[in-house]
Amino acid sequence: MVPRGNPASLIGGCVSSECEGHVSTFIEQLEELRARTIAELNLASTTTELDEIERNVLGGKGQLTALLRQLGSLDASERPEAGRESNRIKQELAALVAEQQERLHASELDARIASEQIDVTLPGRTPQIGVVHPVFQMIEELSDIFALMGFQTVFGREVESGYYNFDQLNIPSDHPARDVWDTFLVESDGAEIVLRTHTSPMQARVMERTTPPVRVVVPGRTYRYEAQDASHEWMFHQLEGLAVDEHITLADLKGVLQELARQLFGPRRKIRFRCDFFPFVEPGVDFAVDCAICDGAGCRVCKHSGWLEMGGAGMVHRKVLEAVGYDADKYSGFAFGLGIERMVMMRYGVDDVRAFAGNDLRFLQQFAARAVGAGRVAA
Ligand code: DAH
Repeated sequence: MVPRGNPASLIGGCVSSECEGHVSTFIEQLEELRARTIAELNLASTTTELDEIERNVLGGKGQLTALLRQLGSLDASERPEAGRESNRIKQELAALVAEQQERLHASELDARIASEQIDVTLPGRTPQIGVVHPVFQMIEELSDIFALMGFQTVFGREVESGYYNFDQLNIPSDHPARDVWDTFLVESDGAEIVLRTHTSPMQARVMERTTPPVRVVVPGRTYRYEAQDASHEWMFHQLEGLAVDEHITLADLKGVLQELARQLFGPRRKIRFRCDFFPFVEPGVDFAVDCAICDGAGCRVCKHSGWLEMGGAGMVHRKVLEAVGYDADKYSGFAFGLGIERMVMMRYGVDDVRAFAGNDLRFLQQFAARAVGAGRVAA
């Protein structure tokens, strides 16, 4: 370390008044400062130490600068020699500082390079890029398909009232059909609040705020209090469809679902309607597509039946229309509800519904390359 303090005290204890006019004393002090500074410079091991020495000796308030200020008090005859000598030493010290600076800088850089070494021959780390979940890819595709048929995509709420989930769909609380949907209750005292068991509650919500014509699809999560197995999940996705207008018939429903089957599974697909019961439609049907994988001959995916079940559908029950204030003599409509996981399973031959929420990246990454709408055919 370089001593600090009053620079005058460093020049052999000489205070300026005593030294006045003694060039030899002045030069001795200069030499002493030079020798000491050189010793310190040689000992400095970091550029920070070096900077400090430079500041203390050569800086504006440094010891050499202080000494030079005394030049003026020397005899005029002695000044030139003292001046020359001062300059020589100043330059010598400045050059030494620069030289040391360069040396220490280089060794500090060497040390840093050694400690931060990287092996440029190692393979890089590939960032993990997420993929759109296959169920959401399918939702996008379905919205596109239905948009071309004039349907708007809307979203409902997952926490729903019993009123919309059941009552408005012609399923009063004492109706045995209510037991068909194993329901998660969020609240049962007072107003009944449930996790929606299907996307159908959006039928009444949409109709209440729209005058016909109505054409919507509603994709979203639904919940059932059910044991899980390869074809049942407690949480899954549905796509609800609803069209209400004057003169809507079952033929319109068939046409729309036939077109959906063609867009999803190819131009040769056939559809099948069989009678079924749902309290909010009359007549009600279940709807299936002939298996695209075996062309209806029977295979593992269609469980050797030749048909893939897609969901329920039917003509909107007049009680449902009347419950939202529609004139059921003037307006008629159709509705359908499809399982979205099922459609992905059929498209790609996935045989366990639990794969979708299982979070296994090996499963999900397989959908990385599939562009939305890849399975579509030209209309
Ligand atoms: N919501 C029914 C379910 O989850 C499916 C369904 C059947 C929806 C017939 C409909 C329909 O819109 O018309 O079981």
